[in-house]
Amino acid sequence: MKKRFYITTPIYYPSAKLHIGHAYCTTLSDILARYNRMIGKEVYFLTGSDEHGQKIAENAAKAGKTPQQFVDDIVKTFKDLWEKLEITNDDFIRTTDLKHVATVQKIFTKLLAQGDIYLGSYEGWYCTPCESFWTTTQVGEAKLCPDCNRSVQLASEESYFFKTDKYVEGLLKKYEDTPNFITPESRKNEMVNTFIKPGLSELAVSRTSIDWGVPVKENTRHTVYVWVDALINYISALGYLSEDDELFHKFWQSDDVEIVQVLGADITRFHTIYWPMILKALGLRQADRYFVHGLLMMKDGKMSKSKGNVVDPLPLIDRYGVDAVRYYLAREVVFGSDGQFTPEQFVERFNVDLVNDLGNLLNRTVSMIEKYCDGVIPLYKGQVTEFDKEIEDLALQVVKEYRGYFDDLKVTEAITTAFKIISASNKYIDNTRPWELNANGKKEELDSVMNHLANNLFVGAMLLQPVLVNAPKELFKQLGVTKEKQNINLLSKYGVLGGEKVSKGNPLFPRLKVNDEVEYIKNLMK
Ligand code: MSP
Repeated sequence: MKKRFYITTPIYYPSAKLHIGHAYCTTLSDILARYNRMIGKEVYFLTGSDEHGQKIAENAAKAGKTPQQFVDDIVKTFKDLWEKLEITNDDFIRTTDLKHVATVQKIFTKLLAQGDIYLGSYEGWYCTPCESFWTTTQVGEAKLCPDCNRSVQLASEESYFFKTDKYVEGLLKKYEDTPNFITPESRKNEMVNTFIKPGLSELAVSRTSIDWGVPVKENTRHTVYVWVDALINYISALGYLSEDDELFHKFWQSDDVEIVQVLGADITRFHTIYWPMILKALGLRQADRYFVHGLLMMKDGKMSKSKGNVVDPLPLIDRYGVDAVRYYLAREVVFGSDGQFTPEQFVERFNVDLVNDLGNLLNRTVSMIEKYCDGVIPLYKGQVTEFDKEIEDLALQVVKEYRGYFDDLKVTEAITTAFKIISASNKYIDNTRPWELNANGKKEELDSVMNHLANNLFVGAMLLQPVLVNAPKELFKQLGVTKEKQNINLLSKYGVLGGEKVSKGNPLFPRLKVNDEVEYIKNLMK
């Protein structure tokens, strides 16, 4: 296992406020960052904003602001959202940062000097919202952008080009040799069949028509194509080609680091075709994995302002808490597939998993330990009741499965597995019937049941920590768990807790009134 972990999110366009779909991508990445920190890796987690390009300049003009003022204002709302979602990014890169701009220029100069970039002229179909040129075949009869389905315009301009030809073979070989390079596998096949096999055109890497961008030093009529500018963030943030490049050596150019880049399905082409080619041309190592997640959709399709179905995560966090929103995103939408946001599901997940399963179990366990055991978790005495072995085996198996899933970036599966121990414990109460053990004076069995319940809750809370940032802390407080015991490596043996003094606190999650809250969320979506 590598000792370091570098994880990146796409950098978001500050053209408007972020919605729950963007929050999905960053939250999932944060969960992976937190998990890897928890298992003892040195983690660097990067997110940021992609601030150049025509669309931003146009939006700024509409708002009566300079582009810089415009992006400054919107980026504040990004940072605010990440803070509310308790995102633990180590840095926030902005493509208008001087350090980033300098790296982009140096990379351009280097590739030009090497002959990987040359000056030519471009004619093609241009999609303004995607800032992408397309070939006649790609836009088809209807002249629609293959990415976003909007109309494209015929455009021609002098442009610098990146020689993709030189790198296609190498890329295909990389795909073949590294089975997990792009996950899910179907995305890799899509890249090969839709873009590479039909013949990849040279990539236009500069524009003369766009001022709001990084100037090409050698020819200042040109600015660097916004996608090339943006992709470079992943290494400029680490100090590549700057005086202070320690992070770059630690978290990119090293065999000790696992590099995972998380992105949405809509931007797979840039990340898994052109970006690896640029890295190759620069003589740098490749990322280990591109994790392509699906899109969070609404009942009526993609979220969009014009449809009026955009969900702002902030009021959800304010009303239901950060844990509820993080849990919903990670649990409800299988990481890797498309998912759908519905108010009904949001409320149901909350009530069923968080209130009934987790919150109730803690509540019942603490009450029973207070009532039957003077408020102290009995010591672990091995397998006493006929149900103890089964629950212990399950706990150990859950821990193992959970780590396997997380190490394979299967976030949803890992969380679902963690919850198995919680629901099994509720059944364990039904099976062991502690109130009868108490009435019949079966003290030894009763103690064992209380110990197992506390230990199961402990295991569940430990495993849910990357997702739930508050509830596990409250649970540890109520069960009196010391800091030393909050160590995931201790979970390879069952029975860590015993002897702790419990103290009853507030319920972890308040039960929601389904109809009222569904209505409330629906109103937010208008
Ligand atoms: N700026 C580019 C990325 C450059 S990375 C070098 C960009 N920005 S974006 O703001 O439009 O979107 C960024 C990412 O947000 C998408 O690729 C996707 O990962 C995520 N999402 C946007 N809408 C989403 C959903 N509805 N659902 C899930 N993720 C979504 O593209």
